[in-house]
Amino acid sequence: MREAIIHLDPAYRLADVPKELFGSFIEHLGRAVYDGIYCPGHPWADGQGFRRDVLDAIRQLQVPLIRYPGGNFASGYRWENGVGPKEKRPVRPDGAWRSRESNQVGLNEFAGFCQSADAELMMTVNLGTRGVQEACDLLEYCNLPGGTYFSDMRISHGAEKPHGIKYWCLGNEMDGPWQTGHKTAEEYGRLAAETARAMRKLDPSVRLTAAGSSNPYMPTFPQWEATVLEHTYEDIDFLSLHQYLGNSTGDMGDFLAQSLTTDRFINDAVAACDFVQAKKRSKKRMMLSFDEWNVWYKTMDQEQHIQPWQFAPPLLEERYTMADAAVFGTMLITLLNHADRVKMACLAQLVNVIAPIMTEPGGGPVWRQSIFWPFLHGSLYGRGTVLRAVADSPKYDSASFTDVPYLESACVWHEDTKELDIFAVNRSADEPLVLDCDLAAFGGGKAAGKAAEHLALYGPAEAVNGPGREVLKPRVMSGAEVKDGQLEAQLPPLSWNVLRIQTGG
Ligand code: AHR
Repeated sequence: MREAIIHLDPAYRLADVPKELFGSFIEHLGRAVYDGIYCPGHPWADGQGFRRDVLDAIRQLQVPLIRYPGGNFASGYRWENGVGPKEKRPVRPDGAWRSRESNQVGLNEFAGFCQSADAELMMTVNLGTRGVQEACDLLEYCNLPGGTYFSDMRISHGAEKPHGIKYWCLGNEMDGPWQTGHKTAEEYGRLAAETARAMRKLDPSVRLTAAGSSNPYMPTFPQWEATVLEHTYEDIDFLSLHQYLGNSTGDMGDFLAQSLTTDRFINDAVAACDFVQAKKRSKKRMMLSFDEWNVWYKTMDQEQHIQPWQFAPPLLEERYTMADAAVFGTMLITLLNHADRVKMACLAQLVNVIAPIMTEPGGGPVWRQSIFWPFLHGSLYGRGTVLRAVADSPKYDSASFTDVPYLESACVWHEDTKELDIFAVNRSADEPLVLDCDLAAFGGGKAAGKAAEHLALYGPAEAVNGPGREVLKPRVMSGAEVKDGQLEAQLPPLSWNVLRIQTGG
């Protein structure tokens, strides 16, 4: 049987994992907002029209922040249309998704929703069709206490207390020709820098993200990063990255190796950041916000083929298979292993649209997709210190990759509780993988490691969950053992695993 070994020591620390690594994203797109989180009249709707069962599922994931209102939607959005008396709000066309937007949910409702979800709101300003002034107006409306035009307007809309929004994205995917108001790096860099400076004058406490590349295959990557940072370096806190992994060739080995491109993307983006830091002789080290990540390929470009101007059409309702969950897991592991530079991340998205949480059109109970589980495990057990582990795994070659390790893993140490959590994916679709790990360095010598709980999500590559049919769910595995300070576990073929080890020291 194939065997992989992880060498690790609690002294070799990479970085503490910030809670913001487990953020998510809700866009005015498809049935994410309407018929997703917001269903007034639904038997489980709260007083504001938000579904309590959906909120429960979101709270289960312990998502610390939710990016809003887009995405591509943000680049043509007028936030003013979504505030004030609901009956006076206009219905507008949304060019990004060729849909109708009723504006019945706007920023005050969404801020209330985030509160109910125990999450912070992360706001994207429109730098597609709008500019510095509108971004400042929005910030004034959200964060100033009162006594000015827009802050008083917020109060008149029933939000007495400022929303105190800390995280702001300066536009969305401005490098993409599909983006409303797409810009060159020079144009965007100047605009982002001026917007950042103006916003900080109004509220110096905000944390700002400039838009990096939409994916590593953009012809402008990584020059986009270098140029944008030339303009913005001292004015922003994060540079964003977006990436969706897909199965473009239909070759399973290739699909399962896709997260290697995420690893490379992060390394290259870091190189661009550090190049600009060196050039500017700056003391500041730029951090990354991976504020859209997921697996997405089956429903891409769907908006081109449906009847336009529908209200909340079922767009991007990707059904996630077991293979998708494994790839998703490798992407999450990659983010953890870059926790020294990736300080925020948003799973795109959260409900109905390329989402872990689903509702059925017009009602029905909430249900969980395969990708729900790796995200949940990461969020629950991944908030510790990532260790610089060395994994020695057998490898394979696929059509586009060589030396793909069967094992993808991240090790998170919880100093306070002395718990070690190993996240592991077995990329082999047909063979189990034995995982060995020497725990002697965790104290207690040969006795180190008292117990191991092994949770695994596995199943046929094409298996999917559906309403009332959640076949893909993590199972508690027997057989993982810590003996004489040595962990041994068997990872099922094509599986996502968490090994939770109570160490001796
Ligand atoms: O998450 C779906 C879309 O993907 C977002 O609107 C956009 O930013 C990205 O291209």
